Amino acid sequence: MKTTIDQVYKHLDNDVTIGAWLANKRSSGKIAFLQLRDGTGFMQGVVVKAEVEEEVFELAKKLTQESSIYVTGTIVKDERSPLGYEMQVKGLELIHEAVDYPITPKNHGTEFLMDHRHLWLRSKRQHAIMKIRNEVIRATYEFFNTNGFAKIDPPILTGASAEGTTELFHTKYFEEDAYLSQSGQLYMEAAAMAFGKVFSFGPTFRAEKSKTRRHLIEFWMIEPEMAFMDHEDSLQLQEQYVAYVVKSVLDNCKIELNTLERDVAKLEKITAPFPRITYDDAVAFLKDKGFDDIEWGDDFGAPHETAIAESYEKPVFITHYPTELKAFYMKPDPNRPEVVLCADLIAPEGYGEIIGGSQRIDDLELMEQRYEEHDLTGPAYQWYLELRKYGSVPHSGFGLGLERTVAWISGTEHVRETIPFPRLLNRLYP
Ligand code: 4AD
Ligand code: MG
Repeated sequence: MKTTIDQVYKHLDNDVTIGAWLANKRSSGKIAFLQLRDGTGFMQGVVVKAEVEEEVFELAKKLTQESSIYVTGTIVKDERSPLGYEMQVKGLELIHEAVDYPITPKNHGTEFLMDHRHLWLRSKRQHAIMKIRNEVIRATYEFFNTNGFAKIDPPILTGASAEGTTELFHTKYFEEDAYLSQSGQLYMEAAAMAFGKVFSFGPTFRAEKSKTRRHLIEFWMIEPEMAFMDHEDSLQLQEQYVAYVVKSVLDNCKIELNTLERDVAKLEKITAPFPRITYDDAVAFLKDKGFDDIEWGDDFGAPHETAIAESYEKPVFITHYPTELKAFYMKPDPNRPEVVLCADLIAPEGYGEIIGGSQRIDDLELMEQRYEEHDLTGPAYQWYLELRKYGSVPHSGFGLGLERTVAWISGTEHVRETIPFPRLLNRLYP
């Protein structure tokens, strides 16, 4: 019977056949240990010379790394492996022999591995990270679908910029100028006025010259937008969502977290509510810690965010940033217009900002004033003003960066390993 590694627990003491690749191998004159992978997981196959036909053992001995095979045998318990099972191999059929697979079990440099990303994805660590990414996506859909949100897809090719004009990828759209989307937010606001609570999940593009462990040129964002929800409502939704995603990974990715040697005790503490600190208090805290480079009105860099995050075991919201620092659409605090009703959510353990969000300006006159200050002209922006003209309501939203969130939950140092084919400052291939 054909099955897959993730299903072998259903076939204890039975014979099955699995289509697999040879990830690694150890063999002696009498026994061969095959490390098998089939896409769904990793499992050991044991070939004992005395118990199989001669050709089977001969094939096992000369099998090369990443050759593809059909392997047949009995599923037995193996308490030492994270899977809990292994196969006592009875038969082997070679599908394709791989010759000189470049990624050997020895250590390779990152650039070499990135050049071979199309093959590196097969390795155990990369497989575990992508499975966790997949679980974060699955849990995201589940969370928003069960909380009354509709998924709405904003366009990728746009005529307007949501987050400022410096980091845009420019392209031609026939005779017109167009840009790759930096954020779907403006469209999601229109969608919220039509559907109430909406979320998007899609790629976004930023021509950022930053070469850090937290920056990608192409990354995926989840952007919820909610009509009739204010800043406070939005913060509560954010902490519930993030806690839900972490719990889903803890529940459904035990093998992967184990492979990555992730300290799950740290993740088990991630429950709502999350701590909050105002921008004002964050500045005072940093000065106290000896950061002399920070003045009220300055943006925080990675070292500042990390210093703040280190005081907490959970993600922390930094709220009420100076109006000057943030995007044109954020609503000023009615009691203190020099700050806006916004928050960045900073992940623990130095993984940086995973969410940026705010309540949006709902007043037409104030929005028109912002348009003048930010020089937003032309038809690409006019439609957005109309959202404030016809039945404007208080509304809020946020964007969660998928790769930074996966980096944090999986304990992966650099975001380049949290997306299948990363686009980086110096890398457009594979
Ligand atoms: O804080 P940002 O720029 O917010 C927005 O784009 C809003 N329009 C979202 C909204 O309110 N709908 O980006 C949101 C998140 C960041 O917190 C970060 O996690 C991620 O997107 N992000 C990046 N991730 C990887 N590489 C980059 N270059 C990123 N830039 C932002
Ligand atoms: Mg931000």
